[in-house]
Parts: sequence; C-alpha cells; structure tokens
Amino acid sequence: FASVRNAAQRGAPLYLQLKKSIEDAVLSGVIGPGDALPSERDIALKADVSRVTVRKAVQDLVKGGILVQRHGSGTFVAPRLERVEQSLSLLTSFTEDMARRGMTVRSTWLDRGIYPPSPDEMMVLGLSSKEFVARVSRLRIANDTPLAIERASLSATALPDPGAVGSSLYAALEKTGNRPVRAVQRISAANLGEADAKLLDVPAGSASLNIERISYLASGKVIEFTRSIYRGDAYDFVAELRLSG
Ligand code: GLP
Repeated sequence: FASVRNAAQRGAPLYLQLKKSIEDAVLSGVIGPGDALPSERDIALKADVSRVTVRKAVQDLVKGGILVQRHGSGTFVAPRLERVEQSLSLLTSFTEDMARRGMTVRSTWLDRGIYPPSPDEMMVLGLSSKEFVARVSRLRIANDTPLAIERASLSATALPDPGAVGSSLYAALEKTGNRPVRAVQRISAANLGEADAKLLDVPAGSASLNIERISYLASGKVIEFTRSIYRGDAYDFVAELRLSG
C-alpha cells in the first residue's frame, strides 16, 4: 500500500484513506481471499502512517467482514464463501445436504433440554400447558464456516431425551420411527442482531433468510417446529415450478 498521504485523498482521516486503499487492493484482486495481510509494521512503513492508524483501519475492515483475524497467525483477506444451493422441494436434513456436497458438518450446541412449551409451541405442536417440549438449538457449521442457527422444538413425548441427539436430529428421529415425511416452510428476509451475527461470524445487521419449518409424520401429526436463521450471503434457495394443469 503506497503512501496514502497523496494529494487526491488529502483531507480524509488517514485511517480511512488506508482502509480505502486496502479495500481497493482486495476488490481489485491484488490480495485475494485467504491471503495474509502484510504485518502492521510493514503496512505502516509502506503507507507512511503510524501503527495505530494501521490498527484502526484493519479493525474497521475486520468489523466489515473484509478481513479476518486469527489469533496467533495474523490477519487475512476473508475467504470467499461458496454459496450453498438448497432445493426447496426435498425434505432433507442439514447433515444430509452438506454430506452430499462433500462438506464436513459439525454443530455447536446452544441449548438442548425439556421445557414447558411457549404459546407458539403449544399451538404448532398441539401441546397442552401440562405437557413438555424438547428444544434442540444448534449453530450449524460446514467446512468450518457457520451457516445457520437452528432452533427446533418437538413434543417431549417424541424426543424424551434431547441430550441424546447426536450430530443429526433427523437420524435420531429415524431411529424411533419419527422421521418427518412432509413439511411446510416459510422463508422471510431479516437482518441479524448482534448476538446471532456473532454466532454466524458476520457483521451485525447482515442479511439473513429465516426459515420456519413445520414437519409432519405420515399420520399427519406435527413432529417438528424449527426456526432457522440462514446466512444471507451463503444460501440460494432453489425450487422447480410447474405449470399447474
Ligand atoms: C434442516 C431443517 C431443520 C431440520 C434439520 C435437521 O436444516 N431446516 O428444520 O431440523 O435440517 O438436520 P439434522 O438431521 O442434520 O440435525
């Protein structure tokens, strides 16, 4: 990054000028996704600014998701995220979807336990206030990238021990003959709040696609009520449409 003290940009605070020149270097491909940024000291020397200025510019770019900082190893251009194309016409599980793409799946547990049901859960799952709900909430990660937050609610009768759910909820349900065969999904756009953005490793306010899935057993009984928050920069939902005849 050549000296940012040039005539064209004079006037704007130095850290903003430096930020712009790093951004330009990323956008024009001078440094690509996954590349390491030169050290703070080198940038300061080349751009003829103080290290405090470099730190400020870099921090802004990290906040904006353009750079990522890994403790111990330095600062990098954020890796390009490969978007996931997700069919809207197949009732598959996250684990199956990612495995089919050859991606490694893992989840971080946010919550799993038995609770008295909320009014929403009572209505959707057909529970009385004396019955209980099993909640399974996870951050879903594929190839080390957090892609979605999923909060599933099921009747505690169908899932008496949420602690025993392994890596796949649908695999656990399959074992007890409770795997859903049909689902209705509602997708809506939203912006991520601080906490969810932090979990998904994106700046607060980033776009998300929120999906509510209500899934049914062959008997017609509702088995699952899941609210998922998908990263807007990571998903394309695809549906095949036919002329009704
Ligand atoms: C998808 C659905 C969820 C469902 C989940 C099960 O992500 N949106 O409603 O609960 O799959 O996935 P798994 O079996 O991997 O836990």
